[in-house]
Amino acid sequence: PAKVAVLASGRGSNLAAMLDARERGELPVEFVLVGSDKASAGALRLAEAANIPTLALDPRGYPDRRAFDLDLFQRIAASGADWLVLAGFMRILDGEALKPWVGRIINIHPSLLPKYRGLHTHRRALEAGDREHGASVHFVTAELDGGPVIAQAYLPIEAGDDEQLLAQRLLPLEHRLLPTVLALLVSGRLQWDGQAARFDGQPLASPLRL
Ligand code: GAR
Repeated sequence: PAKVAVLASGRGSNLAAMLDARERGELPVEFVLVGSDKASAGALRLAEAANIPTLALDPRGYPDRRAFDLDLFQRIAASGADWLVLAGFMRILDGEALKPWVGRIINIHPSLLPKYRGLHTHRRALEAGDREHGASVHFVTAELDGGPVIAQAYLPIEAGDDEQLLAQRLLPLEHRLLPTVLALLVSGRLQWDGQAARFDGQPLASPLRL
């Protein structure tokens, strides 16, 4: 099966969703590494419990972003991973370090990109008075939350939603979206060469709605 590494900075519920999808036979991958920039990340504990090798690297031990990212990506390559999933990895990545991975890294972001790149997406959607919110999975580039969007899940905003509630209601949608896109990616149906994203050989004109 396809070899997948995951990077996560926090709780790891999206990692858990991928592990569950794999258990159910819906995601034919082998998780070869779970890495984090935070030794305390819940995602690392989940990986340990699932007998997946883990890696905790502290950015403070490096002179700059590029040095950290080059070491991180070199270790990911050494794990044998063909694909890399960012599942709540809260760092911007260096463009040079990313180059060998173009088309092989995806990220989940809690907004309907291109809206609300960066942080506090739920609050910003509420403040803007949006009627709908959602999550996106996109190919990763050096531009923060900027690569081609592959697929999105939509969530109507309801009266009474606050930041926390909206985040909580969005999460189950994320948990379906990410394993679904990863399965498409490792199947070869989704491709991106740095120029045009394709799905089943056709240009991906707009994000899949999942
Ligand atoms: C998720 O909501 C994910 O979309 C978001 O962090 C959360 C991680 O939760 N990612 C970003 O904000 C990326 N910029 P998890 O650790 O429970 O998977």
